[in-house]
Amino acid sequence: MYCIKKITDDLTWVGANDRRLAMFEGVYSVPDGVSYNSYLLTDEKTVLFDTVDKSVQHRFLENLDAALQGRKLDYLVVHHMEPDHSASLVELACKFPEMKLVCNEKTLALVKQFECFDADSRAYLVAENDTLVTGRHTLRFIMAPMVHWPEVMVSYDSADKVLFSADAFGCFGALNGAMFADEVDFKRDYMDEARRYYSNIVGKYGSQVEALLDKTSALDIQMICPLHGFVWRKNIGDILSKYVLWSSYTPEENGVMIAYASVYGNTENAAEILACKLRGKGIRTVMYDVSVTPASDIISAAFKWSHLVFASTTYNAGIFVAMEAVISDLAEHNIQNRTVAVIENGSWAPTSGELIRDKLSQCRDITFIAKGLSLLSSLKPGQLEELDAMADEIAATFPQSAIPAPAIKAEELPAPPVEVDPTTAFKFSYGLFVLTARDGEKDNGCIINTAIQITEKPFRISVAVNKANLTCEMISKTGEFNISILAESVPFSVFQQFGFRSGRDADKFEGCGYDTRTANGIMYLPDNTTGVMSGKVKDAYDYGTHMLFIADVTQAFVASSEMSVTYQYYFAHIKPKPPAQKEKKAGYVCRICGYVHEGDDLPDDFICPLCKHGVEDFEKL
Ligand code: FEO
Repeated sequence: MYCIKKITDDLTWVGANDRRLAMFEGVYSVPDGVSYNSYLLTDEKTVLFDTVDKSVQHRFLENLDAALQGRKLDYLVVHHMEPDHSASLVELACKFPEMKLVCNEKTLALVKQFECFDADSRAYLVAENDTLVTGRHTLRFIMAPMVHWPEVMVSYDSADKVLFSADAFGCFGALNGAMFADEVDFKRDYMDEARRYYSNIVGKYGSQVEALLDKTSALDIQMICPLHGFVWRKNIGDILSKYVLWSSYTPEENGVMIAYASVYGNTENAAEILACKLRGKGIRTVMYDVSVTPASDIISAAFKWSHLVFASTTYNAGIFVAMEAVISDLAEHNIQNRTVAVIENGSWAPTSGELIRDKLSQCRDITFIAKGLSLLSSLKPGQLEELDAMADEIAATFPQSAIPAPAIKAEELPAPPVEVDPTTAFKFSYGLFVLTARDGEKDNGCIINTAIQITEKPFRISVAVNKANLTCEMISKTGEFNISILAESVPFSVFQQFGFRSGRDADKFEGCGYDTRTANGIMYLPDNTTGVMSGKVKDAYDYGTHMLFIADVTQAFVASSEMSVTYQYYFAHIKPKPPAQKEKKAGYVCRICGYVHEGDDLPDDFICPLCKHGVEDFEKL
């Protein structure tokens, strides 16, 4: 039986989950399964965005049939030709003889490599910024080479402001009945898996991910539909901000990841003592035994933490085998911009430390802690000082703000400043509200952060509002208002709708699509609110710039069980951050596969290490 999910009125998820797969791509453990997302757009034309892996093809074909409701399929957009998203391509080509494959030239070449059918006659080739009108929707195609494979592209539906992002913004884990990231506790339960997916699948291609982020930064994106994991429709900034960090190899957290390889426990012992010493200095630490923890988790942790310590025994005159795999993997994944310390062990000829340093020296912006530690079989008493020195040197590289200051006794506290610091007001845990009023036929509203309850019996509240606001003028005249208490899921567009402009120049409810009113006839927000209150003004006080209204609550209801948004939450998660001013890298990009050669010069005989094309296929960044 089919199992499909509506995403918007005319977009349906027709993908499937696999919880039996042990190793994704044969390398990455997926203990919580994985989803293969495929989306069907039913417009004047029908458009399928990618297919699924062979393992779940049966369910997918049932899903597609159900969602098509007897219609034929007009277009199959192939964002990414990796077989976990394209296994059903030939079946669909047979089933729908008129179906066109929407793809770029590189994709078409890969289709012909993977599949034996007349792909040329079916191809509808698109290039950068080409569009496809399907009725109400217009799809725009944006090339994203090496945001896993060279042929990858994403598409943007300008009608519903949806980005179909291919592998970008994907996550390991089956969907378990949820479809949207806001239906689960993503930060708590899935962010680690999103990072593990990113760092292992596309971590190597930070420059190419940055290029995609740049290209899409001007788009008004209200929803992201990736090929694995949840759809993003709220708090999109949460995942975008992670991608900005991950793609630039910027650590997310100050702290030390210690990965160790220990055959008889002595290397582990030294690593553990170092961890204790670092904790003693207030520095956060995590530890992994490379023989036990899958390499993909350690790669992911290396993308998260600012400092990395590798402690390894020497094995066959080299690095211990599991550690060697992790170090090679990290170098392959282009890890950059980290501070690294090394501990080696060996019973007759310790060499692992030097070899680890050599390997990681090939990565960019790696700062090595000068104090290393070399063990002969086990840590000796005199070497505790060496570990102290290593911990001191590591601590010295942390920003002061990352290390908690030692507790100060009350009597040692300096006298507090006597002047008024206005930023102290930001420490209030304000809520955020839409304050609405109606005067005659005119509806209006504005954003405030100053609504509070004064008394319980009678149920009485106060709101303060700037006198320059039309809403203030309307409340002064009518003596009535509503407040809609905003939820954490409120999108930034609500702040754009009610803030940043005056109701004197605009109808703030124009095109809002709702006409929801309380008994006093005043509008309230039907979505993105946790509760609504109607107020009847009892007293009004003029405080120069603001009016303070004291009002009896005449109607009140809870609108949702979500958390109400606070001022701090708004700044942390909702208000878009200004894009970081990035230093423009000098270099050349391969037009074929997107490989970036950094540097001012490109030698005449340079050959792309990925696709083997020559300098004629490179262009300056
Ligand atoms: Fe899930 Fe690069 O494919």
